Amino acid sequence: MTKRKILVTSALPYANGSIHLGHLVEYIQTDIWVRFQKMQGNTCHYVCADDTHGTPIMLRAEKEGITPEQLIDRVWHEHKADFDGFYVEFDHFGSTNSPETEAYAKEIYLKLRDRGAEESLIDKRSIEQFYDPVKNMFLPDRFIKGECPKCHAKDQYGDNCEACGTTYAPTELINPYSAVSGAQPERRNSDHYFFKLSDKRCQQFLRKWTTGQLTKEPPLQPEAANKMQEWLGAEEENKLSDWDISRDAPYFGFEIPNAPGKYFYVWLDAPVGYMGSFKQLCKKNGINFDDYWAGWAQDQSELYHFIGKDILYFHALFWPAMLKHADFRTPTKLFAHGFLTVNGEKMSKSRGTFITADSYLKQGLNPEYLRYYYAAKLNGTMEDIDLSLEDFVAKVNSDLIGKYINIASRAAGFINKQFEGIVAPLQDDDFNDAIIKTRNIVQGCYENRDYARAMREIMALADRINGDFDTAKPWELAKVVGKERELHTACSKALHGFKAMSLMLFPVLPKTAGAGLGLFRAGNNPQWQDNGNSPELKINSYKHLMTRLDPKLIEAMVVANQESLKPMTESHSQQRHAEAQQHAIAPIAETISIDEFSKVDLRVAKIVNAEHVEGAEKLLKLTLDIGEAQPRTVFAGIKSVYDPEKLKGRMTVMVANLAPRKMKFGLSEGMVLAASGETPGLFILSPDDGAQPGMRIK
Ligand code: MSP
Ligand code: ZN
Repeated sequence: MTKRKILVTSALPYANGSIHLGHLVEYIQTDIWVRFQKMQGNTCHYVCADDTHGTPIMLRAEKEGITPEQLIDRVWHEHKADFDGFYVEFDHFGSTNSPETEAYAKEIYLKLRDRGAEESLIDKRSIEQFYDPVKNMFLPDRFIKGECPKCHAKDQYGDNCEACGTTYAPTELINPYSAVSGAQPERRNSDHYFFKLSDKRCQQFLRKWTTGQLTKEPPLQPEAANKMQEWLGAEEENKLSDWDISRDAPYFGFEIPNAPGKYFYVWLDAPVGYMGSFKQLCKKNGINFDDYWAGWAQDQSELYHFIGKDILYFHALFWPAMLKHADFRTPTKLFAHGFLTVNGEKMSKSRGTFITADSYLKQGLNPEYLRYYYAAKLNGTMEDIDLSLEDFVAKVNSDLIGKYINIASRAAGFINKQFEGIVAPLQDDDFNDAIIKTRNIVQGCYENRDYARAMREIMALADRINGDFDTAKPWELAKVVGKERELHTACSKALHGFKAMSLMLFPVLPKTAGAGLGLFRAGNNPQWQDNGNSPELKINSYKHLMTRLDPKLIEAMVVANQESLKPMTESHSQQRHAEAQQHAIAPIAETISIDEFSKVDLRVAKIVNAEHVEGAEKLLKLTLDIGEAQPRTVFAGIKSVYDPEKLKGRMTVMVANLAPRKMKFGLSEGMVLAASGETPGLFILSPDDGAQPGMRIK
């Protein structure tokens, strides 16, 4: 078989946050695939980088009082340590803020702009946007807040209302204010650069590319291809609109050629970061960049992007269109995966299920537990995957410890003690065939990213090995004189099986399976075909390969992630931030008369119950006693900050005569008062000691 030449990427993590278990679904999925390809003897390069540009990173650095470069440098080291900790082995982990990425971003842009005899694919247009006159910057939607035009909830973001779920343009907000300075934003015009995705050339290319008419095999999974058809619409609909690729200064990013004060939007240079990072690897290892990226390389090498389903749009539309019209090759395939849920729900900081990679490792949990669990769940589709913490413990202990490790720990002792470490050649053809059959199926499964089936097949083999071992009863044979040969055969067979399993598990468990292979004095660069015949072997002494997963560590990890959110631990940086931004308060509303004020009936309320609302991201359901016959139900957007258990029994203040509002989850009969500002946090009010439910506040 000819060796394949493969370049693999995982999506570039944003440099403004920590790596969490959700991210790791992707990096572990990719790493397994890459290790598998390397075991096949293929040339396979795996690159990634931090995604470092954009407004949030610029503002965060400012808030911390450091430069963006300092921030991204610190985060790079954190991310790198997390990936190392989970054995995610990039051949190169770079940064989009590199001269290499800048050079390719500009090259692509200029090729799109200057099409020779053809019309340019870049357009310049003036657009109107909100501008913060205090910070002197244009505001992205997420940095504008105001009152929801529909339900009038206060402090909603510029793109959608978290109280009623309506989506709108930031210009529709009532009393908008800048989330950066608190100032009232102005509308200003500015020139922006657009990639003309609506142009016929792009439309026609994408229509063909996404439906697999330009490549040997379709580049998208069926679910992704369907999504694309939805986005592209019918030919005459022309549904794609031009893509705004520029942002005004101040912006942390690359300046656009011949456009002073204009920067590439972060998503323009993010995928180019794949090229930039690979270029650095090429320099390091003497690889020819063009072999993987030149237009002519399309059929000579393979390019795969592993991504989450949330960023499919960028990778399946913008990215191939950019590459195509800048004369580069296009991806061979995009592999999109679903999202991680923990215990069946979206990861949540208040529940402690927003688990960082670092906190997992700090508990002393073996990273290979998680690698195995994800492998057992990933099937190559875009379905979400669930990490049920209880199931996690059960599965790891039953499969890895109970089935896999158990084989070696039971058989190796006899071989070492009674047979001088010599494993007899395998003479059981039926068993040998079973190994080969499993190996061939598993090989196909890895290639197609159906790791779940691969793990099932491997564990089925383990069941057979353990079953045969139990039937032979070696512990009894060992006591009977004259049964040595039988004992030797049974233990040798188990160890041949264990060796075969270790090879098959190596992409998932590089450390443990590597140590398992080490028992047979195998090198640490195992190849898939090493798993051929099963001759006589000499083993080392057996050292324990993996310990059981202790559920207490999981509990401790959840608690640790919950605590890291408590305002106490964050208060320091919050305080500093608050001081630095004393001017940053929402503008004072219009003056009202005392009569108008007294229309608002404020009451002391006792929170008699507080609970999570199924399916609601922000809301808690509160039951409030204000001295009436029936308690009131109020939905409050405080879930991110308050643990419902801790609210129970607490006193607060509510608006008792607010017209009831029908919300998605039920009727809300009032409103609880809480303070919020530009610094993170939300603080519900409480009366002084002694106040009784129902007292009026005047
Ligand atoms: N910076 C962009 C990607 C640019 S690629 C040219 C980005 N960064 S991210 O940090 O938000 O996400 C990185 C990858 O992790 C994405 O593929 C994303 O889908 C994936 N995941 C982030 N959270 C996830 C889960 N909760 N579950 C599964 N994957 C998740 O997007
Ligand atoms: Zn609303």
